[in-house]
Amino acid sequence: MKKLIYIEASPRKDRSHSIKAAQEYLSDIKNKNPDIEIKTIDLWDYDLPEFNGEMLNAKYSVLRGESPSGKQVAAWAEVRALFDEFADADHYVFAIPMWNFNIPYKMKHYIDVISQPGMSWGYTEDDGYFGLMAGRTAKVFFASGDGYAEGSGFESLDFQKPYIQLWLNFIGFDKVDKVIAQRTLFEPEAPLIS
Ligand SMILES: Cc1cc2nc3c(=O)[nH]c(=O)nc-3n(C[C@H](O)[C@H](O)[C@H](O)COP(=O)(O)O)c2cc1C
Repeated sequence: MKKLIYIEASPRKDRSHSIKAAQEYLSDIKNKNPDIEIKTIDLWDYDLPEFNGEMLNAKYSVLRGESPSGKQVAAWAEVRALFDEFADADHYVFAIPMWNFNIPYKMKHYIDVISQPGMSWGYTEDDGYFGLMAGRTAKVFFASGDGYAEGSGFESLDFQKPYIQLWLNFIGFDKVDKVIAQRTLFEPEAPLIS
């Protein structure tokens, strides 16, 4: 593990359960790997461009096997720069709350910008879809106000953890570990589930 990117999707900062758990893990990693480079992407203090207009046209050009042209070129270069920043690590830590049974819109916005054909994933008629982010691992710290564990009766309402797992698998991560803080609205000290 040489370079780590930490992506923070909760705006609650020192009141956030996912951030608290992620920070403990990060300080443990720093102690064990003093030379590791850690970059933080705080999605609540991050200038993400709207994913619209020319960016979408550029994406659809690429999906058709064409090169972006005209105004699409600058739009696609902006996407490429954000993707390159994201891709520049071998281990990733995410702190992700559940909002309305899913992930906060800032996290979805980020995923929409960086999940691009020819960057994080590819497709061929022979091979179908394949991820391009092999060699990377992730540890994801999830938090939710209620509990969605197996046997709770609420499993099918959880679009947070299955979605992030699906996304990271789709773009080709080798390994995804989960740590779950659940029932944070009910328990003074929420238990962590790995
Ligand atoms: C806008 C919003 C929507 C939420 N929706 C849900 C929900 O659907 N299910 C749930 O269990 N908790 C929900 N919660 C509670 C959060 O998941 C809970 O407070 C969690 O601890 C947030 O993560 P954090 O502590 O890392 O910020 C919601 C909270 C907010 C602010």
